[in-house]
Amino acid sequence: MTTLQDCQALDAQDALRPLRERFALPEGVIYLDGNSLGAQPKAAAARVAEVVQQEWGQGLIRSWNSAGWINLPERLGDQFAPWIGAGAGEVVFTDTTSINLYKVLTAAARIVRADTREDAPGRRKLISERSNFPTDLYIAQSVCQEYDLELVLLEPEEIAGALQADVAICMLTHVNYRTGAMHDMAAVTAAAHAQGILCVWDLCHSAGAVPVDLRGADADFAIGCSYKYLNGGPGSPAFVWAHPRLINRFWQPLSGWFGHAEPFKFVPDYHPAQGIQRYLCGTQPMVSMSVLQCGLDIYTEAEQFGGMDALRAKSLALTDLFIQLVEERCQGHGLGLATPRAHAARGSQVCLTREEGLGIDGQDSGAYAIVQALIARGVIGDFRAGSGATSQDGKGGGTGLHKDILRFGFTPLYVGFEDVWNAVGHLRQVLESGEWKRPEFNTINAVT
Ligand SMILES: Cc1ncc(COP(=O)(O)O)c(C=O)c1O
Repeated sequence: MTTLQDCQALDAQDALRPLRERFALPEGVIYLDGNSLGAQPKAAAARVAEVVQQEWGQGLIRSWNSAGWINLPERLGDQFAPWIGAGAGEVVFTDTTSINLYKVLTAAARIVRADTREDAPGRRKLISERSNFPTDLYIAQSVCQEYDLELVLLEPEEIAGALQADVAICMLTHVNYRTGAMHDMAAVTAAAHAQGILCVWDLCHSAGAVPVDLRGADADFAIGCSYKYLNGGPGSPAFVWAHPRLINRFWQPLSGWFGHAEPFKFVPDYHPAQGIQRYLCGTQPMVSMSVLQCGLDIYTEAEQFGGMDALRAKSLALTDLFIQLVEERCQGHGLGLATPRAHAARGSQVCLTREEGLGIDGQDSGAYAIVQALIARGVIGDFRAGSGATSQDGKGGGTGLHKDILRFGFTPLYVGFEDVWNAVGHLRQVLESGEWKRPEFNTINAVT
């Protein structure tokens, strides 16, 4: 049996431990929600003050040149590119994940349309996962309407068989937001390309959390946010990547002046810039973009401590420990595991299910209230409501994919092994005491 002392010993040996000092975590909080909103880099407050007081306050409009605001989206893209297996000039930070997804799906739809000869079988399907993050599905619905495509939603196990010549685009989130299950990006992309399908990957739960090799996998387009594992701050700009063979094939639909080849020529006609810059639209939020750099700088520093290999090894050790301790110490309370156990099949989060009918008055699973009781104790995770969906053959309902989820993210930059021990201790106490049944934990907040 693992003990508290074992966990403390693991922390003492942890080579990444110094990086925890880069974060301003509140006293008494065990933060297991970095997969939703990352913790604050200590450097962020001073950087905000510098941008607001010096660059904006004193520099005024001159800062677009003198502080380098004008090309910050590209500079940050270059700084971060190696963490997702991309090259220089291939990534840009801009807008939101939802907006960037709209841009790349539209570009992909235009490419497929141009490539599909009239005598070839029609490629009219855009396939994705039923349990993909809703914004991805909503944006895809819009693109499908515009480009006369049919959105087909599948369970994960149905995807391989659906990669056929009638599919135009396969849009997947690499690590599932609900379960933490991870696709094999290289295998899916290869199978898709063999059928002439373009692959668009959402890396929201992968960037900075798991090894990603976009060029190695030969992916087509990728987008992702920076406010989760990258610790860029609430609403910080997202990123977009396009494979160099595709970048210049079409201009993206939001053809604003920042994506123009010569924005300061002020010509009436749109001529897209060459390269990833064309995925910009308008003026970027410089305060937020500057703060994002504080998060990315910690990743740059992490390269000295073993980079992604070290982060991944620690993330797997933390998540393995959490699963083991929950199974050892929280038995008999209806908890299940929605996250795959195999390392190659999961990201950096662990998601638990709870049997339906165990909630207050036998109404629901009680998962929401348990998470709220944990938060009140300073153990911050989150809850994702079950959709109740099942696949046509009924398989989807049994995997935990569509059930209520207690979600715990493990950011190896700042979560330690003793944190895991203590978090499970609190979970056990919440379950054994029944304190989650208190009314205040059973009132649903706007953000869960
Ligand atoms: C997979 C995935 N895609 C997209 C988003 C959100 O997109 P946006 O930043 O545009 O709100 C999330 C948010 O959690 C997500 O998990």
